[in-house]
Amino acid sequence: MKVNGIPTRTIWSVDHGQAIGIIDQTKLPFEFEKIILKDWRQVQEAIATMKVRGAPLIGIAGAWAMVLAVRDNPSDDFIHEVRSELISTRPTAVNLQWAVDHLVKRIISLPAKDRLPVAYREAEAMTQADVLANRAIGTHGAKIIAELYAKKREPVNILTHCNAGWLATVDYGTALSAVYIAFEQGIPLHVWVDETRPREQGLLTAWELAGFGVPHTVIADNAGGHLMQHREVDAVIVGADRITAIGDVANKVGTYLKALAAKDMEVPFYVAAPSSTIDWSIQDGKHRIKIENRSGDELRYIRGRDKKGHVCDVRVMSEQTNVENPAFDVTPARLITGIITERGVCKPEFLTRLFPEGARVAMKG
Ligand code: MRU
Repeated sequence: MKVNGIPTRTIWSVDHGQAIGIIDQTKLPFEFEKIILKDWRQVQEAIATMKVRGAPLIGIAGAWAMVLAVRDNPSDDFIHEVRSELISTRPTAVNLQWAVDHLVKRIISLPAKDRLPVAYREAEAMTQADVLANRAIGTHGAKIIAELYAKKREPVNILTHCNAGWLATVDYGTALSAVYIAFEQGIPLHVWVDETRPREQGLLTAWELAGFGVPHTVIADNAGGHLMQHREVDAVIVGADRITAIGDVANKVGTYLKALAAKDMEVPFYVAAPSSTIDWSIQDGKHRIKIENRSGDELRYIRGRDKKGHVCDVRVMSEQTNVENPAFDVTPARLITGIITERGVCKPEFLTRLFPEGARVAMKG
């Protein structure tokens, strides 16, 4: 996507894989800053602190971290050590494990001296594949928005939670890819953007939508149910961090509550995600998906610009207050109208029809 008219991706390789460049998302929406990461530890830190974030993007960042690790030491022991450290950095989004394992599988049977060029080529290929998958998701999702418009003949109101836009992927995004493509096609629409406490990913979404000229309004996380009751939402479209073989979906905490309200008000609830987000090895999301618990400081402090224009963190509660910060929740398949993938849209229970190769893994598990 373009930033100030310049085509920009969220991650890129520098000097043929000697380093990687990223957008530091902890600085947005206040400052737009690109940074260079020179070794796998720096990439891991960027994933842990959410300088890069969003399931598909942390997957690709993990793949590039492996390339940098192999450059420094291509031995089996080191590769396995880095693999386990990386995949435990953010445990809920399966894309991280998927991407790191995919890369390791490609190189581990090769002699150590041949591993780096193959790892580099594979990471490049995965980076490009992410862009293509997200574009395809957008095309399928845009058809849903077009159908809503055909029925309504008034701007389509879409509610989204967190940031499933181009910042969360290499490019285009997942849920927002559908919005961008529908908007490009001239379909009148408006996006309700959940603020998404505590990390305020909704403000990233608002920044992205503003850059693309898409009409949008930020709302408090608790406002969605009220808007649905008053028929102000035509569809909910969110992203995902892990989807089980039967279509249960882990996504940013708060997604489940939106799905409950949507069910009650018969508002269609869609999840947009590439197949790299599907974990075919598990079925019951509530019991089998590990939910990342993050630091309580994410709740204790809120970032903003003060009256003098300085970006700073402000504490919003006493240091002694107990806080709990589960970063994701699981929406059961029964609350989901459809899953929008790069191969098309299906009901959650029919994922295995769309991906027969995944069905084979699911059956073994
Ligand atoms: O904690 P984050 O910001 O990495 O969480 C991101 C989300 O929950 C997104 O909705 C999800 O990763 C899908 S991004 C296309």
